[in-house]
Amino acid sequence: THPEVIFSGIQPTGVPHLGNYLGALKQWVDLQNSAPPSTELLYCVVDLHAITQPQDPNDLRRRRQDTMAMLLAVGLKAERCVIFEQSRVPAHSQLMWILSTLAPTNLLARQTQWKSKLAESEDRSPLDPDGSSKLKLGLFSYPVLQAADILLYKTTLVPVGEDQIQHLELARSLAGKFNRTFGKILVVPKVKLAPAKRVMSLTNPSSKMSKSGAVNSQINLDHSEAEIRLRIRSALTDSIHGISYDREARPGVSNLIEMLGNMTNRDDFGVIASECEGLSMKDFKDRVADSVVEGLKGIKEEYERIKGDAAYLEEVSQMGAEKANRKANETLGKVMEVMGM
Ligand code: ADP
Ligand code: NA
Repeated sequence: THPEVIFSGIQPTGVPHLGNYLGALKQWVDLQNSAPPSTELLYCVVDLHAITQPQDPNDLRRRRQDTMAMLLAVGLKAERCVIFEQSRVPAHSQLMWILSTLAPTNLLARQTQWKSKLAESEDRSPLDPDGSSKLKLGLFSYPVLQAADILLYKTTLVPVGEDQIQHLELARSLAGKFNRTFGKILVVPKVKLAPAKRVMSLTNPSSKMSKSGAVNSQINLDHSEAEIRLRIRSALTDSIHGISYDREARPGVSNLIEMLGNMTNRDDFGVIASECEGLSMKDFKDRVADSVVEGLKGIKEEYERIKGDAAYLEEVSQMGAEKANRKANETLGKVMEVMGM
């Protein structure tokens, strides 16, 4: 059996939130700490994806650095993982072009993410004077770039949240199609869903927690303990008596139960609910907040410290890009060769 290659990415679109942590970053760190030495781990700041939504250049510059800092702050080790920025590895864009010649537009049309991002961007037009409501080719073809990201490294396993399943299906199908057409060069990756599949918004528990959500809807990894407690205390719940777990009937309470479970590495949400059964809503929320504060302990301080060390961040970024370029160019070279280029 071949050693595993693990690849995943995060957009530099703002400070990562608890959904990013539980759906992605925590699992990235857990994989790093439990994988045998033969497993390769690559974690990418996907800035080329971020620009599919209008980005202010100064914000993007700062957020790329901040996101690198957060990857290190949550516990990823630059000596163990390849931590890098997508735009420093030109092969991502090059393989994307090649894969786009195999990607049926009707499959892309069926992806749900561009639809929701387009709807979101309608009232965010200052950086997009020609009309933010017009679908741009980059946003439409986002999943093809994501397929290139993954396939370049012969990735075997992609740890992501549930929102990425549809994109991963497309990556698998493009790899299969390439291999059947030109020869078996690419590896068809498997998805590894995080134990926390979907962390929901605190203010609107029917939508996922997202960097573009309302101000009080998220807990960011750089929030103070007081801020975390305040936001959880004001999370939207319901007036049903007692604490019980029912995602349909009690989405707000159930989201908090899952949060408590995921922060403490438990998935027996029904049992957690019965342990909290007799608590008032206020005491229940305080217990959830305790688990979040405890689970995120030290991350904020590490983040602030690393963020201030621009030279170190640049060093990590360069080292990552060097390793990533080597591996990516090898795959790209083979792909082009079998295609006759
Ligand atoms: P966002 O969707 O907030 O812009 P990204 O697109 O950068 O974040 O996603 C980075 C990772 O975080 C992906 O693996 C995605 O599945 C995961 N993720 C994002 N939001 C959530 C959420 N609310 N619950 C669980 N996982 C999430
Ligand atoms: Na996402």
